[in-house]
Amino acid sequence: MSGKYLYQTIVDKIAELVDNGTYKPGDRVPSIRELSRQSGVSINTVKVAYEHLEDCCLIEARPQSGYYVSARLPEIPREPEIDETNIIPSQASSCSLVVRIMKDVLVPDKVQFGAAIPDPDLIPGDKLSRILASETRRLKIESTAYAMPPGHHRLRQQIAKWMTKAGCVLNPEKLVVTSGASEAVFLALRAICRPGDTVAISSPIYFNFVQMFEILGLRVIEIPNSPVEGLQIEHLRHALAHNNITCCIAISNFDNPMGNRLSDARKEELVSLLWEAKVPLIEDDINGDLAHDGERPTVAKAWDRHDNVLLCSSFSKTLAPGYRVGWIAPGRFMDAVLHQKIVSNIATASPTQLAIAEFLENGGYAHHLRTICKAYAAKVARMAEAIGTYFPQGTRVTRPEGGFTLWLELAENIDTVALYAMAAQKKITIAPGSLFSTGERYHNCLRLNSACYSEETKWAVEALGEMVHELANSQDNHVKH
Ligand SMILES: Cc1ncc(COP(=O)(O)O)c(C=O)c1O
Repeated sequence: MSGKYLYQTIVDKIAELVDNGTYKPGDRVPSIRELSRQSGVSINTVKVAYEHLEDCCLIEARPQSGYYVSARLPEIPREPEIDETNIIPSQASSCSLVVRIMKDVLVPDKVQFGAAIPDPDLIPGDKLSRILASETRRLKIESTAYAMPPGHHRLRQQIAKWMTKAGCVLNPEKLVVTSGASEAVFLALRAICRPGDTVAISSPIYFNFVQMFEILGLRVIEIPNSPVEGLQIEHLRHALAHNNITCCIAISNFDNPMGNRLSDARKEELVSLLWEAKVPLIEDDINGDLAHDGERPTVAKAWDRHDNVLLCSSFSKTLAPGYRVGWIAPGRFMDAVLHQKIVSNIATASPTQLAIAEFLENGGYAHHLRTICKAYAAKVARMAEAIGTYFPQGTRVTRPEGGFTLWLELAENIDTVALYAMAAQKKITIAPGSLFSTGERYHNCLRLNSACYSEETKWAVEALGEMVHELANSQDNHVKH
């Protein structure tokens, strides 16, 4: 028998035992030594077979523990079906559910799978408090005065320095500090658009943007977001050719809710397509520092030779959402954005700007990111596995490469607003899919925040799985009667 044949026999044997349920996800398979003895083949042959099984994601090695059957991950969601020949701008609609989800964040005994908030245990709270105290003591005048726009210079310098890692040369003089990334995007929209204008954005849409469009009276063209590739540029090209689009918004790294990112080639294509059409791009990079593999991706702004990209971000996901420190590099819209900022709230709070600047300069931000990126990668993977275990067959879930949101697609007959109400009774929050569109889309989808997933909250995924089973059964019965 040839060596190749031997290792394939081992691969087939383990695969069959997994397929027929003898070994279940999470079970330990025999050690290399054990299997070599049992099967009468060399240790090397078993090693090659196990490497092959790992490549096929059938088993995984756990350090100092052995080999285990990998969890069966559900399939990824389908790309949203939005007919590009029939893209009609739609008016955003109001949703009080968003206000309720945001209020729920304050309720301490709820399992926070609804809002995309970071894990409180991964916020460097003690360090930030120490820095905040010492900076406000050291800089009594600066910390109590208005930090007039564009905001504290030291912070803008630190941001420009940090963003070189994203392939981007930013001039600190052309950065404006904002109260979070939401304000950055809102100011950008107000600087560029007038009521009745049309915005193009990938769909599903981060729900706070949907609310902004409504408040600003904007019309929206939803461009399909492929779970793997991100915003579909061909659809955008078509939409640009057939509509009068005023601006485009993209979350090019680790989209909320999909978790995907645009490749460098697509970022470059997006920037040049929009420049040719003279349509500005608002780029939201709030999750850019949260790559699961630790490699900081580029931003689309890195390809912007014409100041046509307004890059927005914040420290809400990486350091502390409550500090409300974000920023925008508004490109050719600098004056308009500065004006909007002053009219909107004069300035962003000074003490937290000073504290974040110090953290970036001397607080070990890069080290902190390494820790949290690993932790979020593990949380996302474990939660997706738990979904695979507890949700009905046919459930689809994304494979985020960064950030901490998971997007799920359930059976067509499930309404996730009903699921929201059932979950609320068990003190679990979720974000129903219908919030992520300006039209009638995603009623059977939901977003879950895996930052708050742990062994302690695993019960909540199991409970959600049971509720989805229940909803599916009640719908089936409804159809039968
Ligand atoms: C894509 C995106 N932009 C903006 C925000 C809001 O950020 P901030 O708290 O900095 O305003 C979020 C928060 O979930 C987000 O996911």
